[in-house]
Amino acid sequence: MSFSRRPMAMRFSPVGCVHYGPELNRTTIPAAPVVRRRSLTADNDDRRMLRLGIRAQNVGTIECEVSVSTITRREVIRGGAALAAVAAEPVLARSRQAPTEMAPGIAPVSLKVNGEIHRLNLDSRVTVLDALREHLYLTGSKKGCDQGQCGACTIHIDGERVLSCLTLAVAVQGKSIETIEGIAAHGELHPMQQAFVDQDGLQCGYCTPGQIMSAIACVREGHAKSDADIREYMSGNLCRCAAYPKIVAAIKQAREKMESV
Ligand code: FES
Ligand code: FES
Repeated sequence: MSFSRRPMAMRFSPVGCVHYGPELNRTTIPAAPVVRRRSLTADNDDRRMLRLGIRAQNVGTIECEVSVSTITRREVIRGGAALAAVAAEPVLARSRQAPTEMAPGIAPVSLKVNGEIHRLNLDSRVTVLDALREHLYLTGSKKGCDQGQCGACTIHIDGERVLSCLTLAVAVQGKSIETIEGIAAHGELHPMQQAFVDQDGLQCGYCTPGQIMSAIACVREGHAKSDADIREYMSGNLCRCAAYPKIVAAIKQAREKMESV
């Protein structure tokens, strides 16, 4: 074998090429390839070289054994596809396996939050508050006491105010959950949100999402007719910053707007 300008280039034999050799041979070369010795030149036999999958640039004269009649471009492509299929088989086999069993206590749960359905695999002890915050990353609802005492976690379920820290996620499947993230519409704040802004009804703001969700329900329930009513029916929502007077003012402002719609 002699090379004029690319000594590392190619060598073919009845068992295949030293570079593509065994793999190519396994997949594309028939059992009894026709072999003949001949000279290849870049000018005359580029196409032949390409058919073998080898670019013969800068090759002067190569003398080698070539199984020219046994490999077509189509066979090379088919061989590549076969190799890809073999490589992909373990992955496909894994994907065809039945889904692994869930750990004990984990159950598929479907939650409708702000009009959108979310499917989760949750421990049956997970509360709605934790499902919202830790699994759906809706962190507007706050965890204050986690014991049903502060009201910071208040959300609406089927239109009614509920403490999400005391409600299990598996128990509210099929119900409509509304959180502070879902009450603004068409790029405009809910009237209650706007009233809290206008009346400066917050200081640190930690209790505010719960206050707003509770206040909306308070108005809808008809429990916002007087200051005393508001204070009574908002008494489950604590504010460590003691912004109560301004919260009452905000609820009265929003009540006018909500009742006029
Ligand atoms: S976090 Fe739910 S009532 Fe305090
Ligand atoms: S504004 Fe700070 S806890 Fe209410």
